[in-house]
Amino acid sequence: SNRIMLGPLVAAIDQGTSSTRFLVFNAKTAELLSHHQVEIKQSFPKEGWVEEDPKEILQSVYECMDRTCEKMTQLNIDISNIKAVGVTNQRETTLVWDKETGEPLYNAIVWLDLRTQSTVERLINKTPGRNKNHLKHKTGLPISTYFSAVKLRWLMDNVEKVHEAVLSHRAMFGTVDSWLIWSLTGGKKGGVHCTDVTNASRTMLFNIHTMDWDPELCKYFDIPMEILPKVRSSSEIYGLMCLGDQSAALVGQMCFKDGQAKNTYGTGCFLLKNVGTKPVMSDHGLLTTVAYKLGRDKPACYALEGSVAIAGAVVPWLKNNLGIIQTSTELEQLAADVGTSYGCYFVPAFSGLYAPYWEPSARGIICGLTQFTNRSHLAFAALEAVCFQTREILDAMNQDSGIHLSQLQVDGGMTSNRLLMQLQADILCIPVVKPSMPETTALGAAMAAGAAEGVSVWSLNPEDLTEVTSEKFEPQINPEESELRYARWKKAVQRAMNWET
Ligand code: G3P
Repeated sequence: SNRIMLGPLVAAIDQGTSSTRFLVFNAKTAELLSHHQVEIKQSFPKEGWVEEDPKEILQSVYECMDRTCEKMTQLNIDISNIKAVGVTNQRETTLVWDKETGEPLYNAIVWLDLRTQSTVERLINKTPGRNKNHLKHKTGLPISTYFSAVKLRWLMDNVEKVHEAVLSHRAMFGTVDSWLIWSLTGGKKGGVHCTDVTNASRTMLFNIHTMDWDPELCKYFDIPMEILPKVRSSSEIYGLMCLGDQSAALVGQMCFKDGQAKNTYGTGCFLLKNVGTKPVMSDHGLLTTVAYKLGRDKPACYALEGSVAIAGAVVPWLKNNLGIIQTSTELEQLAADVGTSYGCYFVPAFSGLYAPYWEPSARGIICGLTQFTNRSHLAFAALEAVCFQTREILDAMNQDSGIHLSQLQVDGGMTSNRLLMQLQADILCIPVVKPSMPETTALGAAMAAGAAEGVSVWSLNPEDLTEVTSEKFEPQINPEESELRYARWKKAVQRAMNWET
């Protein structure tokens, strides 16, 4: 036949907060051959609550796989050359299902959800010295609404079906990776209940030193260990392989060396820096997390992470809640029309503030308004907010290590916004470097899959990796102006803090 011969292919399922994608890469050249994307509905049943439907998530994965395969067949590419499929996913989002019926017992509680704010405050008040970092020595994380353990606790306390299933030993807990892998490997007919070290490191039940579930942490949150998935490395055959999305982006950006970093602009914004094989604790509000473990017998690598809850999520907010834009292109256009926020600052603390503050009671504010301010200025302020939040993270990282990053590697949906990239370089006062193939998260998951023992169509030796082509944005404003704007931003942040107290 006239089938195109490309050699081995590797694929990735990228299940993010706002959408699901399936992507197929050429294993030799890392070229993206075909993909399909499906949006995911988020529901907000109460103020601060964010949920998604586990079945819709699973369905979207099937749909993306089917449509991509159709597209490949049309391109005459033989789909039987796909040698491995990696999974990468939104992290922390919490699911519980019944292993006998295969049915989810509640909606997925999304990482951004704030319903556990009072639980978190109660837990912190119980610690000696009311210290939110009480569990950080084991987990690398502050006690926060962000991580899975408190969401799981809420489900066990508030959802009768979950409570009963736990008592009758039928409950399975997992983050999105576990739910997908269990379902795709057979579900109630013997699906594999597992997760990888990167996702596990975001639950608050995982000890990042021993690299396993921690009985004391489970006791602390009163969570039975039998409902937890088995923890595996990020690159082995479980049926499929997996990595949390931010770790996958680090791999996809080839940040395999100590000191290399990337920032991904998705729903939120996540800056991760590889710190090597020993975990480093932050003194400036960053998380310590597992970057990857690329094989059962390979060492774990750790990362310092600065997480920003709201980045790309400002776009649907400006569209659906304020109605001032229709598309993200329009947002860029409006902001570019004025080229300034005219002194308007927008702190989108919709889910409290994450790094470096970890303040769940912060709420969003828009300030500095005058008679002159219009929606274009607000659009500009929204883009600037993404850049200022990244600057805060980068500052914390520089302070922690004493070494200043000389440029920032970026990826994710929002990086197609050229104005945003320029603004980011201006506000960081360092160049911003964007790879020409933007799907780095999926590429990272595909690489981990392709490198797994028994698949081995991909080598992850830094020496063997081809250089990625990229585009560089150089700072264009003077550092004094940049500092002045940043100082105003910090004042705005102070006003957004402790809003409810
Ligand atoms: O920690 C949450 C993060 O993994 C979500 O990523 O790409 O959906 O914004 P994204």
